[in-house]
This record gives sequence, structure tokens and C-alpha cells, in this order.
Amino acid sequence: METERLSDLPSLLLDWYRTNARDLPWRHTRDPYQIWVSEIMLQQTRVAAVLGYYERFLAAFPTVEALAAAPEEDLLSLWQGLGYYSRARNLHRAAKEAAESGGIPGTYTELRKLPGIGAYTAAAIASAAYGEPAAAVDGNVLRCMARILDDHAPSDTPAFQTRIRGLLEGLFPAKEEDIRIFNQSLMELGATVCVPNGEPKCGDCPVRALCLGCQRGTAIDLPVRREKKARRIEDRTVLVFLRGNRTALRKRPDRGLLAGLWEFPNLSGALDERDAAQIAASWGLRVTAWRSRMEAKHIFTHVEWHMTGYVVDAEGEGPFRWADREELETLAVPSAFVRFRTAASDALRNPAPDSSAEGMREASE
Ligand code: ADE
Repeated sequence: METERLSDLPSLLLDWYRTNARDLPWRHTRDPYQIWVSEIMLQQTRVAAVLGYYERFLAAFPTVEALAAAPEEDLLSLWQGLGYYSRARNLHRAAKEAAESGGIPGTYTELRKLPGIGAYTAAAIASAAYGEPAAAVDGNVLRCMARILDDHAPSDTPAFQTRIRGLLEGLFPAKEEDIRIFNQSLMELGATVCVPNGEPKCGDCPVRALCLGCQRGTAIDLPVRREKKARRIEDRTVLVFLRGNRTALRKRPDRGLLAGLWEFPNLSGALDERDAAQIAASWGLRVTAWRSRMEAKHIFTHVEWHMTGYVVDAEGEGPFRWADREELETLAVPSAFVRFRTAASDALRNPAPDSSAEGMREASE
């Protein structure tokens, strides 16, 4: 039986983890709030990218109550650049719920009920903070286990995840101090030894004696994944309006992609200058000069934006917030628009060109 064959897995992993694990700040705490923040930030984000954000976030919001009481703008501003902003909004909602009901729940089952806390995150928090033997199964763990088991079933399916979770829960160590780090040790193996994209470092692996993928030479071909649906490509036009020392921003709707963040006015389709000027007019703005045209691409999980941007001088007000350079730096503008933000910021440093300047074209409408 698999559980018996793998009975040494926990002790091999834990011994290795205790001497080889990276020293990461959330591994020094048992505070469920700090562990929770770290796990949310680490979702689909590299450790190196998270470290600075984690420190700044906890300095600004040291407790769940402080986070619950903070304005969403402050939170999003600190999250700026980390991506996947729905994580921040869910964290905020969950913090409010937790603070209202007397604090962060003390079990896997109760944690799971909070917005943004799925099975993986609930298990990661419950094990590290409370010593509860719940298996945290993410893509890294699935990869390690598919290799250890030499299992060629598609790993990105609920069935495979359920199988691995069941198997790991049967292998959990008994001692509380071991339970707290068992999930971490598997994550560490996936992050540093049983790595994705390229050769796993089987020579450094503490569990190679148990690993069928290593013994049979199949590890590099695992895990098997279901075929991915191609990402949808969407053309968009982005307008960077400049008026005096300000640029126009608008807030995205409270739901959906990049909800609640600040963006440059944009719309679907690759518009030429004439159509863009007409759209500007429909927003109550008159384009007085075209400064530059730029292209940018941004890849989301399910959609890819191919953007054409126009940096223009404009007159009028429109339904926008006109931000100066300082506000532009502090408002939560998602990564998709960073190139436009840089362009706006650079342009705001230079006064509007004289209408007789060479190379400038008058707007035709
Ligand atoms: N990825 C997800 N959770 C993690 C953790 N606690 N430490 C390192 N990487 C992680």
C-alpha cells in the first residue's frame, strides 16, 4: 500500500527541512494573522517578490483588527505591483468578518468559510498556526507527489488533488511541532529541489530513496497536465490624457477584473487616432495635441490585452479624476497600466508642447 511504502517520507522531509529550509519571515511566527497574510501573498507569486510587500503590509496593518479598520484604498495601494488584486479585497473582507466575530477562526473548517481562503490556504494556516494535521496541496505539492508516485494521471484535476490530500493526511506526523512544519517541508522541497521547468535536483533530494520518478527516470516528465485552453486575446485602446500638470484616471467597477483599481481610460478595440478622438469627445474631452503612440501587452490568467496607447493633450473634464504626478504614484494602478503610468509621469514632467512645435499634429476633431 502507498501509505506504507511512503511511511518514512515525513521523517526524511522533516530532518532535511530543519537543516536546509530557507529562512523566511513567516516561518518564525505562529500568529495566524501573519501566516494568513503570507499565504495570500504567496498565491501564484514568488517568495522573492513577496518579502518586501509582506514586511510593509504587516508594518501598516499589524493585526487583523487594524486591517479590518483600514480603508480599502490604503490596502490596494500597498498591494500595488503584487498583482491578483482580488486577493487583497478578499483579505480585507475576510479581516472584517473575522474582526467582527472576535478574531481569526481557530480551525481549518472555520477558516475555510472566510472569503479568499480555500482548502490550501486554510490547511497552510491551520497546520502552521494551530498544529492541525491538514494537508496543504498546491501545484508544487502535486508535482512532488506525482513524481514520488510516478503517477501519470493529469495532476490539475480535483480527483488527483483529493487523492494526494488523502494520502498526505494518512502520512501526517504525530508530534505537534512536526505537524506545524510538515506542509512547509513539502512546499520547500517543491520550491528548491523538486523544481518545475527543467531538471529536478534529484541528487540533492532527501526522499529520492522513495521516489519512483527518480528511480525510473520519469520525474522530469511529470506531472502530466490537462491541455490548457488558449488565452483570449483582446485588443484595447488606452488614452493618456494630459491637462496642465494632471492626467485623467478612472476607477474600475467594484466587481470583475482589477476591481476597484485606478486605470487610464480605455476601451475595447484597436482604435485609430480619429476614432480615439471621437471617443474622447463622447467623454467630454477635446484632444488638442497628439504626443505619442505606444504599444503594450499584459497577460492575465484567462485573457491577454494587446493595448494601443495614445498620450494626448486634452481640454475638458469628463467623468475622470485628474491626478498630478504625486497622486499617480500613490493611487493603486494595476501592473497592466504601468507603462502608461510611466509615460504619463514622464509627459507631466514636460510642459505641453507649443502648438507650433515641429512634429506635432493638430487633432482633426
Ligand atoms: N508558497 C506558498 N506558501 C509558502 C510558504 N509558506 N513558504 C514558502 N513558499 C510558499
